[in-house]
Amino acid sequence: MAATDSRAALPPGHLTGGPLTALAPMQDVTDLAFMGVIAHYGAPDYFFTEFFRVHAHSRPEKHILRSIDENATGRPVFAQVIGEDLDHLTRTVEELLQHNVAGIDLNLGCPAPKVYKKNVGGGLLRELGKVDRILGRLRSVVPGLFTVKTRIGFDDTAGFGRLLELVDGHRVDLLSVHGRTVKEMYRSEVHYDFIARAAATVRCPVLANGNVTSAARAGAVLAETGAAGVMIGRHAIRNPWIFRQCREAAQGLVPVAVTLGDVREYVGRLYRATAVPTLAERFHVNKMKKYLNFVGQSVDPAGAFLHEMRRVESEAELFAVCDRHLVDHGAAARGFAAEPYPGVIARPNCETPSAGPAECSLETITA
Ligand SMILES: Cc1cc2nc3c(=O)[nH]c(=O)nc-3n(C[C@H](O)[C@H](O)[C@H](O)COP(=O)(O)O)c2cc1C
Repeated sequence: MAATDSRAALPPGHLTGGPLTALAPMQDVTDLAFMGVIAHYGAPDYFFTEFFRVHAHSRPEKHILRSIDENATGRPVFAQVIGEDLDHLTRTVEELLQHNVAGIDLNLGCPAPKVYKKNVGGGLLRELGKVDRILGRLRSVVPGLFTVKTRIGFDDTAGFGRLLELVDGHRVDLLSVHGRTVKEMYRSEVHYDFIARAAATVRCPVLANGNVTSAARAGAVLAETGAAGVMIGRHAIRNPWIFRQCREAAQGLVPVAVTLGDVREYVGRLYRATAVPTLAERFHVNKMKKYLNFVGQSVDPAGAFLHEMRRVESEAELFAVCDRHLVDHGAAARGFAAEPYPGVIARPNCETPSAGPAECSLETITA
């Protein structure tokens, strides 16, 4: 049976005894600027950094350290590492522990081929003996909270039971489970039954991850899995109010309604927050498109906003498209859909069930 005793070891959430919420780690997304924007609309209980790469010559990346050192959200940040060498992991973790981290999180889930082919991230799920040694070493060098984020297997789920034994045996403090195998990337349904199995098996609290699209879905996933909380990634980019809405729903309140005008304000805030003097306008606009791919899923059912947004080349064009779809002709007062519109896909190369893996933009992620 799951025990809740070790939840006491975790930093308290906003709601005493209520379900926990966490912003999922996302490379090139969950940086200092983005965390600040999310916190403006309602911070999750926990933040996780994007992964720190660990190898022979690695030093913790400065831009990721900023999301810890300059964190002004008032909420704790866990530092995530990805790697396989025990000594290099130890060295990195000891360095990270000099910073104000809530804990150290190990990535056992990254599905990008360039990553798993190096036997790190999701690739480690093929070698549970090595996972055993890594968990043992990290547990011995992390005096505080040591957490793990995993998928449910590499190409099948045969090792999942063993993985849960290792998590328990090494006294992991919090387990986040993305309910897909590595090979399923982002294309399959999420196997919440495996998250339920984790929540019923390990002593530590479990965060359910994968396709938690709204506060209503969070409630349903918590009921289905018995998890202690939810970890939300892409749908927090789409809807940064989602953590506040989850809390409101958990308290029996009606979650705040979001209008397209509110979303226009979010886009402007995100643009200002992510501006860097050295980043040329067209690169900044391209960076914005990565976020807006998700936002566009709830703007209109035909995906017209997405279609036009993907073609802009300048700041002026970008905001003209935003104004046309989010403000003009009474749009500002219209509702922003709580769920993504069916068939409106944020990353067609990654999330369309029929697209082949070779086309996926995850190809560009390295560790
Ligand atoms: C752009 C992007 C970058 C990601 N980077 C990381 C990462 O650095 N570490 C990690 O553990 N997971 C990473 N993930 C996976 C997410 O944390 C999460 O497990 C996944 O998106 C499923 O949750 P969601 O359906 O709420 O988005 C990334 C996902 C996306 C979309």
